[in-house]
Amino acid sequence: MVEATLNELAASAGARIEQAGSSEELEQVRIEVLGRKGVLAQISKEMGKVLPQDRARLGKLLNEVKQRLEQASDAKQGRFAEAAMRARLEAEWIDLTLPCPQPPVRHLHPITQIQDEIEDLFVSLGFAVLDGPEVETEYHNFDALNIPATHPARDAQDTFWLDDGNLLRTHTSPVQVRGMERLGPPLRMVAPGRVFRNESVDASHEHTFYQIEGMVVDREVSVAHLIYFMKTMLTEIFRQEVTVRLRPGYFPFVEPGFELDVRCLLCGGDGCPVCKQSGWVEQLGCGLVHPNVLRSSGIDPDIWNGWAFGLGLTRLAMMRYGIDDIRLLQGGDLRFLEQL
Ligand code: DAH
Repeated sequence: MVEATLNELAASAGARIEQAGSSEELEQVRIEVLGRKGVLAQISKEMGKVLPQDRARLGKLLNEVKQRLEQASDAKQGRFAEAAMRARLEAEWIDLTLPCPQPPVRHLHPITQIQDEIEDLFVSLGFAVLDGPEVETEYHNFDALNIPATHPARDAQDTFWLDDGNLLRTHTSPVQVRGMERLGPPLRMVAPGRVFRNESVDASHEHTFYQIEGMVVDREVSVAHLIYFMKTMLTEIFRQEVTVRLRPGYFPFVEPGFELDVRCLLCGGDGCPVCKQSGWVEQLGCGLVHPNVLRSSGIDPDIWNGWAFGLGLTRLAMMRYGIDDIRLLQGGDLRFLEQL
């Protein structure tokens, strides 16, 4: 009886295991047949009732059937696990060689780009790049630069004065003074930075803009040296040979002082709207350092002299990129900046 039941069970459970369509179904069969309260456990309980002479044989058969079914169930469950893993690998497969979406290429602000280029050039010529405070003393911004108290630049209309008597620097020239104080002669320095004027803002005036200052203090420095460096710088900036001309210009910290013009790069000097039909575009202020400026910073003008220039980086960026409204440059509008 028991023997027939066991054999029948081995066959039917074996077939169910084989046919199970899912891991869950298989588990169901396993519990029914092999579980603690399953059919085999039931039969096992009834072994006490079989004849003693059959007990060993039937016990052995029971164990064999149990083992066989367990193995079949484990193997089948293993195949389900394997298939599940394969399906998962298939679903989660990533092709690492596929080109991924690139982050958009960003760039530095056009003023920063020009500033970096000019810095690189001057560094290659042996100049130090100096930084100075945006909140300056009246002394560094004016007095030490030989700017007399009567000069209009000192007027509250042109300068942002702070309550403590300091001011927002109106130009990068005070860094000349800080350079002379810190490094002494001989000196080769440039100083880029942000400057502030109490201007009403319109398409060509900003209260905040950028300049770069340059200064050399050495022995027997001449206007010829100044012109050489200015031409070198402007040729680098405009990436072409430039023709320059000097006109007298008044800046209290240089003597002689000049306005330097570049022959219009657009019309070659024939006259166009950019140069306002003059053939020349005003570019920067420069000159030979005034002896008073050297003296103020403890440099003996009988031994040393020098040249200096101040260049508007904001205006240069406008010229290079053909920007006709200065307000765009610091408006922070990416739709504008991304075009440059
Ligand atoms: N600081 C002057 C300005 O902001 C520009 C300038 C002119 C600087 C002549 C110089 C210079 O160093 O020599 O208008």
